[in-house]
Amino acid sequence: MKRNLFLLGNGGRESALCYKLNRDGALVYSYNPNPTIASYSIKSPEFSKDSFYSDLSKFVEEKDIRMVVIGPEKYLDEGATDFLESKGIKVFGPSKEAAKIETDKSFAKELMNRYNIPTARYEISESLEKSIELKRFFNFPFVMKVSGLASGKGALIIKNDDDFEKALDDIYRKNVFKDAAKRVVFEEFLYGDETSLFILTDGEKFLLLPPAQDHKKAFDNEKGPNTGGMGSYAPCNLLNKKLIDKSVEKIVEPILYALRKEEKTFKGLLYAGLMVNDGEIFVVEFNSRFGDPETQSIIPLIDSSLYDIMVEISNGDLKTQNLKINDLYSTTVVLAAEGYPLDYKKGIRFTIEENIFDQNTILFHASSKEISTNFFENTGGRILNLTSFDTSLEKSIKRVYSNIEKLKIEGTFYRHDIGKKGIQYEKI
Ligand code: AMP
Ligand code: GLY
Repeated sequence: MKRNLFLLGNGGRESALCYKLNRDGALVYSYNPNPTIASYSIKSPEFSKDSFYSDLSKFVEEKDIRMVVIGPEKYLDEGATDFLESKGIKVFGPSKEAAKIETDKSFAKELMNRYNIPTARYEISESLEKSIELKRFFNFPFVMKVSGLASGKGALIIKNDDDFEKALDDIYRKNVFKDAAKRVVFEEFLYGDETSLFILTDGEKFLLLPPAQDHKKAFDNEKGPNTGGMGSYAPCNLLNKKLIDKSVEKIVEPILYALRKEEKTFKGLLYAGLMVNDGEIFVVEFNSRFGDPETQSIIPLIDSSLYDIMVEISNGDLKTQNLKINDLYSTTVVLAAEGYPLDYKKGIRFTIEENIFDQNTILFHASSKEISTNFFENTGGRILNLTSFDTSLEKSIKRVYSNIEKLKIEGTFYRHDIGKKGIQYEKI
Protein backbone atom coordinates (compact mmCIF):
# COMPACT_ATOMS: atom_id res chain seq x y z
CA MET A 1 0.00 0.00 0.00
CA LYS A 2 1.12 3.54 -0.68
CA ARG A 3 2.69 5.40 2.24
CA ASN A 4 1.22 8.83 1.73
CA LEU A 5 -0.96 11.47 3.34
CA PHE A 6 -2.35 14.96 2.94
CA LEU A 7 -1.30 17.43 5.65
CA LEU A 8 -3.65 20.34 6.40
CA GLY A 9 -2.06 23.40 8.05
CA ASN A 10 1.10 25.39 7.38
CA GLY A 11 2.60 26.65 10.66
CA GLY A 12 5.60 25.60 12.74
CA ARG A 13 3.74 22.62 14.20
CA GLU A 14 2.93 21.29 10.76
CA SER A 15 6.55 21.88 9.67
CA ALA A 16 7.65 19.52 12.46
CA LEU A 17 4.97 16.96 11.59
CA CYS A 18 5.89 17.11 7.92
CA TYR A 19 9.61 16.69 8.69
CA LYS A 20 8.86 13.59 10.77
CA LEU A 21 6.33 12.03 8.39
CA ASN A 22 8.84 12.47 5.58
CA ARG A 23 11.52 10.75 7.67
CA ASP A 24 9.04 7.94 8.31
CA GLY A 25 9.12 7.33 4.57
CA ALA A 26 5.73 8.80 3.73
CA LEU A 27 4.97 10.98 0.74
CA VAL A 28 3.32 14.15 2.06
CA TYR A 29 0.94 16.34 0.06
CA SER A 30 0.38 19.86 1.37
CA TYR A 31 -1.77 22.94 0.83
CA ASN A 32 -0.22 26.41 0.59
CA PRO A 33 2.94 25.15 2.33
CA ASN A 34 5.44 27.30 4.21
CA PRO A 35 9.09 26.87 3.09
CA THR A 36 9.83 23.91 5.42
CA ILE A 37 6.69 22.03 4.46
CA ALA A 38 7.35 22.81 0.79
CA SER A 39 10.79 21.21 1.06
CA TYR A 40 9.37 17.94 2.40
CA SER A 41 6.13 17.67 0.44
CA ILE A 42 4.29 17.96 -2.85
CA LYS A 43 2.15 21.05 -3.08
CA SER A 44 -1.48 20.58 -4.15
CA PRO A 45 -3.18 23.01 -6.53
CA GLU A 46 -5.29 25.90 -5.16
CA PHE A 47 -8.70 24.80 -3.93
CA SER A 48 -11.67 27.11 -4.27
CA LYS A 49 -12.67 28.90 -1.06
CA ASP A 50 -16.32 27.95 -1.58
CA SER A 51 -15.69 24.27 -2.26
CA PHE A 52 -12.48 23.74 -0.30
CA TYR A 53 -13.36 20.37 1.23
CA SER A 54 -14.91 18.87 -1.87
CA ASP A 55 -11.90 20.00 -3.94
CA LEU A 56 -9.65 18.45 -1.28
CA SER A 57 -11.58 15.17 -1.27
CA LYS A 58 -11.42 14.97 -5.08
CA PHE A 59 -7.67 15.54 -4.98
CA VAL A 60 -7.24 12.88 -2.27
CA GLU A 61 -9.20 10.34 -4.36
CA GLU A 62 -7.40 11.22 -7.57
CA LYS A 63 -3.95 10.75 -6.01
CA ASP A 64 -4.99 7.70 -4.00
CA ILE A 65 -3.95 9.35 -0.72
CA ARG A 66 -4.29 7.14 2.32
CA MET A 67 -5.32 9.71 4.96
CA VAL A 68 -5.68 13.37 5.75
CA VAL A 69 -3.82 14.66 8.83
CA ILE A 70 -5.34 17.81 10.31
CA GLY A 71 -3.03 20.26 12.12
CA PRO A 72 -5.04 23.33 13.21
CA GLU A 73 -8.31 23.34 15.20
CA LYS A 74 -9.97 25.65 12.68
CA TYR A 75 -10.52 22.75 10.25
CA LEU A 76 -11.83 20.48 13.01
CA ASP A 77 -14.32 23.14 14.04
CA GLU A 78 -15.46 23.44 10.42
CA GLY A 79 -16.29 19.73 10.43
CA ALA A 80 -13.45 18.72 8.07
CA THR A 81 -13.21 15.22 9.58
CA ASP A 82 -16.94 14.58 9.29
CA PHE A 83 -17.06 15.74 5.68
CA LEU A 84 -14.00 13.78 4.55
CA GLU A 85 -15.09 10.62 6.37
CA SER A 86 -18.51 10.87 4.73
CA LYS A 87 -16.60 10.61 1.42
CA GLY A 88 -14.83 7.47 2.63
CA ILE A 89 -11.52 9.23 3.35
CA LYS A 90 -9.53 8.30 6.47
CA VAL A 91 -8.67 11.19 8.75
CA PHE A 92 -6.28 11.74 11.64
CA GLY A 93 -8.23 14.28 13.71
CA PRO A 94 -11.46 14.23 15.70
CA SER A 95 -15.03 14.90 14.54
CA LYS A 96 -16.54 18.34 15.08
CA GLU A 97 -18.46 16.99 18.08
CA ALA A 98 -15.36 15.45 19.71
CA ALA A 99 -13.33 18.61 18.99
CA LYS A 100 -15.79 20.50 21.24
CA ILE A 101 -13.44 19.50 24.04
CA GLU A 102 -11.38 22.43 22.71
CA THR A 103 -13.84 24.54 20.72
CA ASP A 104 -16.45 24.82 23.49
CA LYS A 105 -14.84 25.37 26.89
CA SER A 106 -18.18 25.28 28.75
CA PHE A 107 -18.81 21.84 27.28
CA ALA A 108 -15.32 20.73 28.37
CA LYS A 109 -15.85 22.01 31.92
CA GLU A 110 -19.27 20.38 32.21
CA LEU A 111 -17.87 17.10 30.94
CA MET A 112 -14.98 17.19 33.42
CA ASN A 113 -17.44 17.98 36.18
CA ARG A 114 -19.75 15.08 35.29
CA TYR A 115 -16.87 12.59 35.22
CA ASN A 116 -14.96 13.92 38.25
CA ILE A 117 -11.88 14.99 36.35
CA PRO A 118 -9.84 17.45 38.46
CA THR A 119 -10.11 21.01 37.16
CA ALA A 120 -10.63 24.53 38.56
CA ARG A 121 -14.02 25.29 40.14
CA TYR A 122 -16.15 27.17 37.61
CA GLU A 123 -19.45 28.85 36.72
CA ILE A 124 -20.86 29.64 33.31
CA SER A 125 -22.31 33.00 32.29
CA GLU A 126 -24.48 33.74 29.28
CA SER A 127 -25.00 37.46 29.78
CA LEU A 128 -23.51 40.68 31.15
CA GLU A 129 -25.97 40.60 34.07
CA LYS A 130 -25.03 37.04 35.00
CA SER A 131 -21.32 37.88 34.78
CA ILE A 132 -21.76 40.77 37.20
CA GLU A 133 -23.65 38.45 39.52
CA LEU A 134 -21.07 35.64 39.30
CA LYS A 135 -18.17 37.88 40.30
CA ARG A 136 -19.09 37.63 43.99
CA PHE A 137 -18.47 33.87 43.94
CA PHE A 138 -14.80 34.35 43.02
CA ASN A 139 -11.87 35.99 44.79
CA PHE A 140 -9.18 37.87 42.88
CA PRO A 141 -7.39 36.63 40.90
CA PHE A 142 -9.86 34.60 38.90
CA VAL A 143 -10.09 33.75 35.21
CA MET A 144 -12.75 34.61 32.64
CA LYS A 145 -12.59 32.52 29.47
CA VAL A 146 -14.68 32.90 26.38
CA SER A 147 -16.12 29.51 25.53
CA GLY A 148 -15.35 29.46 21.81
CA LEU A 149 -12.12 29.63 19.81
CA ALA A 150 -10.17 32.87 20.29
CA SER A 151 -6.66 32.14 18.90
CA GLY A 152 -5.25 31.65 22.41
CA LYS A 153 -6.42 35.13 23.51
CA GLY A 154 -9.66 34.14 25.21
CA ALA A 155 -8.43 33.58 28.78
CA LEU A 156 -8.50 36.79 30.83
CA ILE A 157 -6.83 36.85 34.23
CA ILE A 158 -8.86 39.16 36.49
CA LYS A 159 -6.70 40.60 39.27
CA ASN A 160 -8.84 43.55 40.36
CA ASP A 161 -12.01 45.58 39.65
CA ASP A 162 -10.38 47.43 36.75
CA ASP A 163 -9.51 44.16 35.02
CA PHE A 164 -13.07 42.97 35.53
CA GLU A 165 -14.56 46.16 34.03
CA LYS A 166 -12.21 45.90 31.05
CA ALA A 167 -13.20 42.27 30.51
CA LEU A 168 -16.89 43.19 30.61
CA ASP A 169 -16.20 46.00 28.14
CA ASP A 170 -14.31 43.77 25.73
CA ILE A 171 -16.69 40.82 25.97
CA TYR A 172 -20.09 42.51 26.11
CA ARG A 173 -19.85 46.16 25.11
CA LYS A 174 -17.19 46.07 22.39
CA ASN A 175 -18.03 42.51 21.34
CA VAL A 176 -14.31 41.82 20.73
CA PHE A 177 -14.76 38.04 20.88
CA LYS A 178 -17.99 37.91 18.84
CA ASP A 179 -19.82 34.56 18.96
CA ALA A 180 -16.94 32.92 20.83
CA ALA A 181 -18.14 34.83 23.94
CA LYS A 182 -21.78 33.65 23.85
CA ARG A 183 -20.87 31.72 26.96
CA VAL A 184 -18.11 32.76 29.34
CA VAL A 185 -16.50 30.43 31.85
CA PHE A 186 -15.54 31.89 35.24
CA GLU A 187 -12.79 29.86 36.89
CA GLU A 188 -10.87 30.00 40.12
CA PHE A 189 -7.20 30.72 39.56
CA LEU A 190 -4.91 27.70 39.76
CA TYR A 191 -1.40 28.15 41.10
CA GLY A 192 1.46 25.88 40.09
CA ASP A 193 3.51 24.93 37.04
CA GLU A 194 2.02 24.09 33.66
CA THR A 195 2.88 21.21 31.36
CA SER A 196 1.43 19.81 28.15
CA LEU A 197 0.64 16.11 27.85
CA PHE A 198 -0.09 14.77 24.35
CA ILE A 199 -2.21 11.66 23.95
CA LEU A 200 -2.33 9.76 20.65
CA THR A 201 -5.61 7.89 20.72
CA ASP A 202 -8.23 6.00 18.72
CA GLY A 203 -10.71 6.94 21.44
CA GLU A 204 -9.99 3.97 23.67
CA LYS A 205 -6.40 2.80 23.37
CA PHE A 206 -3.76 5.49 23.71
CA LEU A 207 -0.06 6.27 23.68
CA LEU A 208 1.51 9.13 25.63
CA LEU A 209 4.17 11.34 24.10
CA PRO A 210 6.87 12.76 26.39
CA PRO A 211 5.46 15.77 28.31
CA ALA A 212 6.56 19.20 27.14
CA GLN A 213 6.45 22.71 28.55
CA ASP A 214 5.33 25.76 26.63
CA HIS A 215 6.43 29.33 27.43
CA LYS A 216 3.34 31.48 26.91
CA LYS A 217 4.50 34.95 27.93
CA ALA A 218 6.13 37.17 25.32
CA PHE A 219 9.25 38.13 27.29
CA ASP A 220 11.90 36.64 29.57
CA ASN A 221 10.98 35.79 33.18
CA GLU A 222 7.29 35.40 32.33
CA LYS A 223 6.84 39.10 31.53
CA GLY A 224 4.55 40.63 28.92
CA PRO A 225 1.30 39.49 27.31
CA ASN A 226 0.24 35.90 26.63
CA THR A 227 1.20 34.60 23.19
CA GLY A 228 0.57 31.44 21.20
CA GLY A 229 3.86 30.17 22.69
CA MET A 230 7.44 31.53 22.55
CA GLY A 231 9.33 28.29 23.05
CA SER A 232 9.18 24.82 24.50
CA TYR A 233 11.25 21.92 25.66
CA ALA A 234 10.72 18.19 26.13
CA PRO A 235 10.70 15.95 28.01
CA CYS A 236 9.43 18.07 30.90
CA ASN A 237 10.37 16.27 34.12
CA LEU A 238 7.80 18.21 36.11
CA LEU A 239 5.63 15.23 35.21
CA ASN A 240 7.74 12.44 36.68
CA LYS A 241 6.76 8.78 36.36
CA LYS A 242 4.50 8.93 39.42
CA LEU A 243 2.66 12.02 38.19
CA ILE A 244 2.29 10.55 34.70
CA ASP A 245 0.65 7.47 36.23
CA LYS A 246 -1.61 9.74 38.26
CA SER A 247 -2.53 11.76 35.14
CA VAL A 248 -3.45 8.56 33.33
CA GLU A 249 -5.66 7.37 36.16
CA LYS A 250 -7.34 10.67 37.04
CA ILE A 251 -7.42 12.42 33.67
CA VAL A 252 -6.54 10.45 30.53
CA GLU A 253 -8.62 7.32 31.05
CA PRO A 254 -11.64 9.18 32.49
CA ILE A 255 -11.76 11.79 29.69
CA LEU A 256 -11.52 9.19 26.92
CA TYR A 257 -14.25 7.18 28.67
CA ALA A 258 -16.39 10.33 29.07
CA LEU A 259 -16.08 11.19 25.38
CA ARG A 260 -17.01 7.64 24.36
CA LYS A 261 -19.97 7.61 26.72
CA GLU A 262 -21.25 10.88 25.25
CA GLU A 263 -20.87 9.54 21.73
CA LYS A 264 -17.99 11.85 20.94
CA THR A 265 -15.25 9.22 20.56
CA PHE A 266 -12.00 11.15 20.12
CA LYS A 267 -9.68 10.01 17.37
CA GLY A 268 -6.42 11.91 16.90
CA LEU A 269 -4.22 13.85 19.28
CA LEU A 270 -5.75 14.95 22.55
CA TYR A 271 -3.76 17.69 24.30
CA ALA A 272 -4.12 18.02 28.05
CA GLY A 273 -2.87 21.33 29.46
CA LEU A 274 -2.12 20.51 33.10
CA MET A 275 -1.37 22.55 36.22
CA VAL A 276 0.83 20.73 38.70
CA ASN A 277 0.95 21.92 42.31
CA ASP A 278 2.47 19.99 45.17
CA GLY A 279 1.76 16.58 43.66
CA GLU A 280 -1.79 17.52 42.62
CA ILE A 281 -2.75 17.76 38.94
CA PHE A 282 -5.57 19.82 37.43
CA VAL A 283 -6.71 20.24 33.84
CA VAL A 284 -6.37 23.84 32.63
CA GLU A 285 -7.63 23.02 29.16
CA PHE A 286 -7.98 20.30 26.58
CA ASN A 287 -7.10 20.86 22.94
CA SER A 288 -8.08 18.64 20.07
CA ARG A 289 -4.78 18.81 18.15
CA PHE A 290 -1.02 18.93 18.57
CA GLY A 291 0.34 21.95 20.47
CA ASP A 292 2.49 24.62 18.88
CA PRO A 293 5.45 25.00 19.70
CA GLU A 294 5.51 21.85 21.91
CA THR A 295 5.32 19.54 18.87
CA GLN A 296 8.55 20.98 17.48
CA SER A 297 10.38 19.84 20.65
CA ILE A 298 8.68 16.45 20.93
CA ILE A 299 9.19 15.30 17.33
CA PRO A 300 13.00 14.71 17.57
CA LEU A 301 12.38 12.41 20.57
CA ILE A 302 10.13 9.97 18.69
CA ASP A 303 11.91 7.00 17.12
CA SER A 304 8.70 5.10 16.25
CA SER A 305 6.97 5.75 12.95
CA LEU A 306 4.42 8.48 13.62
CA TYR A 307 3.03 7.77 10.17
CA ASP A 308 2.13 4.16 11.06
CA ILE A 309 0.50 5.28 14.32
CA MET A 310 -1.51 7.95 12.52
CA VAL A 311 -2.70 5.41 9.95
CA GLU A 312 -3.82 3.06 12.74
CA ILE A 313 -5.68 5.88 14.48
CA SER A 314 -7.29 7.06 11.26
CA ASN A 315 -8.57 3.48 10.86
CA GLY A 316 -9.99 3.68 14.40
CA ASP A 317 -7.73 0.91 15.69
CA LEU A 318 -4.49 1.86 17.41
CA LYS A 319 -2.44 -1.33 17.29
CA THR A 320 0.99 -0.02 18.31
CA GLN A 321 1.43 -0.76 22.00
CA ASN A 322 4.63 1.07 22.80
CA LEU A 323 6.26 4.19 21.51
CA LYS A 324 9.99 4.15 20.94
CA ILE A 325 11.24 7.33 22.59
CA ASN A 326 14.96 8.13 22.63
CA ASP A 327 16.92 9.56 25.56
CA LEU A 328 17.42 13.01 24.09
CA TYR A 329 16.26 16.43 25.29
CA SER A 330 15.01 19.01 22.89
CA THR A 331 14.50 22.78 23.10
CA THR A 332 12.65 25.06 20.67
CA VAL A 333 12.99 28.84 20.48
CA VAL A 334 10.42 30.90 18.56
CA LEU A 335 11.64 33.90 16.61
CA ALA A 336 8.81 36.44 16.39
CA ALA A 337 8.19 39.81 14.76
CA GLU A 338 8.67 42.83 17.02
CA GLY A 339 5.35 43.81 18.57
CA TYR A 340 3.94 40.27 18.56
CA PRO A 341 1.40 39.29 19.92
CA LEU A 342 -0.08 42.79 19.55
CA ASP A 343 0.50 44.89 16.44
CA TYR A 344 3.56 43.34 14.87
CA LYS A 345 5.75 44.12 11.89
CA LYS A 346 4.83 42.59 8.57
CA GLY A 347 6.90 42.30 5.43
CA ILE A 348 10.16 41.58 7.29
CA ARG A 349 12.55 40.19 4.69
CA PHE A 350 15.48 37.99 5.58
CA THR A 351 18.06 35.60 4.20
CA ILE A 352 19.00 32.23 5.66
CA GLU A 353 22.11 30.72 4.13
CA GLU A 354 22.17 26.96 3.70
CA ASN A 355 23.89 24.68 6.23
CA ILE A 356 24.44 27.34 8.89
CA PHE A 357 23.07 25.22 11.73
CA ASP A 358 24.74 22.18 13.30
CA GLN A 359 23.50 18.64 12.74
CA ASN A 360 21.46 18.48 15.95
CA THR A 361 19.49 21.59 15.06
CA ILE A 362 16.42 21.84 12.87
CA LEU A 363 14.93 25.00 11.41
CA PHE A 364 11.14 24.92 11.17
CA HIS A 365 9.56 27.78 9.27
CA ALA A 366 6.28 28.94 10.81
CA SER A 367 4.67 32.11 9.39
CA SER A 368 7.04 32.76 6.53
CA LYS A 369 7.13 32.46 2.78
CA GLU A 370 9.94 32.11 0.27
CA ILE A 371 10.47 35.04 -2.09
CA SER A 372 13.49 33.56 -3.89
CA THR A 373 16.15 30.97 -3.03
CA ASN A 374 17.11 31.38 0.66
CA PHE A 375 15.24 34.70 0.82
CA PHE A 376 12.06 34.92 2.88
CA GLU A 377 9.35 37.23 4.21
CA ASN A 378 7.19 36.91 7.33
CA THR A 379 3.47 36.27 6.91
CA GLY A 380 2.58 36.33 10.63
CA GLY A 381 3.87 37.00 14.14
CA ARG A 382 5.71 33.78 14.91
CA ILE A 383 8.11 33.53 12.00
CA LEU A 384 10.65 30.76 12.65
CA ASN A 385 11.26 27.99 15.19
CA LEU A 386 14.69 26.60 15.90
CA THR A 387 14.89 23.22 17.63
CA SER A 388 18.06 21.63 19.01
CA PHE A 389 18.42 18.24 20.64
CA ASP A 390 21.17 16.84 22.84
CA THR A 391 21.86 14.40 25.67
CA SER A 392 20.75 16.78 28.43
CA LEU A 393 18.35 19.69 28.70
CA GLU A 394 21.21 22.10 29.51
CA LYS A 395 23.09 21.03 26.39
CA SER A 396 20.04 21.34 24.15
CA ILE A 397 19.41 24.87 25.49
CA LYS A 398 23.05 25.88 24.92
CA ARG A 399 22.93 24.43 21.45
CA VAL A 400 19.72 26.13 20.37
CA TYR A 401 20.95 29.54 21.55
CA SER A 402 24.36 29.20 19.91
CA ASN A 403 22.54 28.41 16.67
CA ILE A 404 19.83 31.07 16.84
CA GLU A 405 22.54 33.73 17.25
CA LYS A 406 23.49 32.97 13.65
CA LEU A 407 20.12 34.35 12.57
CA LYS A 408 20.50 38.10 12.75
CA ILE A 409 17.12 39.30 11.55
CA GLU A 410 16.22 42.92 12.16
CA GLY A 411 12.75 43.62 13.53
CA THR A 412 12.48 40.30 15.36
CA PHE A 413 12.94 39.03 18.91
CA TYR A 414 13.05 35.82 20.91
CA ARG A 415 13.12 34.81 24.57
CA HIS A 416 16.48 34.01 26.15
CA ASP A 417 15.26 31.78 28.97
CA ILE A 418 13.49 28.90 27.21
CA GLY A 419 13.97 25.67 29.13
CA LYS A 420 15.48 27.32 32.22
CA LYS A 421 12.61 26.20 34.44
CA GLY A 422 13.08 22.62 33.30
CA ILE A 423 16.60 22.38 34.73
CA GLN A 424 15.16 22.92 38.19
CA TYR A 425 12.73 20.01 37.67
CA GLU A 426 15.58 17.76 36.61
CA LYS A 427 17.28 18.27 39.94
CA ILE A 428 14.30 17.06 42.00
P1 AMP B 1 -6.59 28.57 27.93
O1 AMP B 1 -7.24 29.57 27.04
O2 AMP B 1 -7.54 27.79 28.75
O3 AMP B 1 -5.61 27.78 27.17
O4 AMP B 1 -5.69 29.40 28.93
C1 AMP B 1 -4.54 30.10 28.49
C2 AMP B 1 -3.57 30.23 29.64
O5 AMP B 1 -4.16 31.01 30.70
C3 AMP B 1 -3.20 28.91 30.29
O6 AMP B 1 -2.17 28.26 29.63
C4 AMP B 1 -2.78 29.38 31.68
O7 AMP B 1 -1.47 29.90 31.66
C5 AMP B 1 -3.75 30.51 31.95
N1 AMP B 1 -4.93 29.97 32.68
C6 AMP B 1 -6.07 29.52 32.15
N2 AMP B 1 -6.92 29.09 33.10
C7 AMP B 1 -6.28 29.26 34.27
C8 AMP B 1 -6.63 29.02 35.64
N3 AMP B 1 -7.82 28.53 35.99
N4 AMP B 1 -5.72 29.32 36.58
C9 AMP B 1 -4.53 29.86 36.26
N5 AMP B 1 -4.14 30.12 34.99
C10 AMP B 1 -5.00 29.83 34.01
N1 GLY C 1 1.09 25.84 22.88
C1 GLY C 1 -0.26 26.07 23.16
C2 GLY C 1 -1.21 25.53 22.18
O1 GLY C 1 -0.83 24.93 21.19
O2 GLY C 1 -2.41 25.71 22.37
